[in-house]
Amino acid sequence: MKVRKMTFKDLYYVLRICNSAFLEMARWTSRIAPAIIESMEKYPELQLVAEHDGKIVGFLRGGYKEDSLKILHIAVSPSFQGKGIGSKLLEEFESIAVKKGFRKITLDTPFAKRFYEKNGYKCVKIEYALIFETIGKELMDVKNTEIMKLSNISMLIERFGRDAYSFLKEYFKTFDTSSDKAFIYFDDDKVAGSIVGSINRWCTDLLEIRSILYNDERIKWKLIDKIIFEASLSGIRWIGYKTYKKEEYKSLLSEGWKESKLPYWWTKYFMEKEI
Ligand SMILES: CC(C)(COP(=O)(O)OP(=O)(O)OC[C@H]1O[C@@H](n2cnc3c(N)ncnc32)[C@H](O)[C@@H]1OP(=O)(O)O)[C@@H](O)C(=O)NCCC(=O)NCCS
Repeated sequence: MKVRKMTFKDLYYVLRICNSAFLEMARWTSRIAPAIIESMEKYPELQLVAEHDGKIVGFLRGGYKEDSLKILHIAVSPSFQGKGIGSKLLEEFESIAVKKGFRKITLDTPFAKRFYEKNGYKCVKIEYALIFETIGKELMDVKNTEIMKLSNISMLIERFGRDAYSFLKEYFKTFDTSSDKAFIYFDDDKVAGSIVGSINRWCTDLLEIRSILYNDERIKWKLIDKIIFEASLSGIRWIGYKTYKKEEYKSLLSEGWKESKLPYWWTKYFMEKEI
């Protein structure tokens, strides 16, 4: 088995590995093929394949990220996994990084944390992806909530100042689809918070919470309950929420949320190795 630079002639074989090895969306040709072509055009020196008896059995797609090299994708043909090929690809990539004068390799991965840990990588950050299942639950509407209107914007800015800006960016991004949801919560007739969600690009059964604006935890939960209720009214099965905060992750787990294993909604582990 040898590791060498990828060429355009390898593309078909590399794509077949993607189709059969990845659990997440990287198995979709429409997503991965353009990405591989672009990497080959921009940084051919960072694209590797593993070849065994003249057959392509694995690949690594790399890129540059500030002061480090980044692993964008790595996969080994299913029948060749567990034989050290993935580790060999990492080793070759690391030696390219050293030769180029880089001291660090970075990456993020949904499913292969253990593989990287075995190869000396450390997890430096986690983005938790949670889902709430609407099926099998008795859900109730939440009082004092309304569908958000454009005329509510000035009230939101008045109440939340700069914090409202990132919320509003998410709100406006939902304008290009019809099935998105944004709600506002009133306390004593004053706006007290707002939530915006949008249907996941790949799965119409998943409504992602994009942003929540609140000052008080109690309001946050009311807004989450509202969006869950409205989603279930449309028959949507899952609500998704992502957070970097471990405390928030734990409190969602205690409210009946689960860590997601869906191929389009996963917890992401950010890993690094000093070389
Ligand atoms: C992850 C992957 C590239 C590893 O390649 P490999 O050639 O099987 O790995 P190696 O043989 O060098 O190392 C095997 C070790 O990595 C770990 N490992 C392998 N695949 C793993 C996976 N999918 N998740 C977690 N750990 C994994 C195992 O612990 C194994 O150790 P063990 O032999 O003690 O059980 C390969 O399994 C693969 O293609 N998986 C599917 C695609 C993927 O998840 N890619 C990474 C996300 S971008």
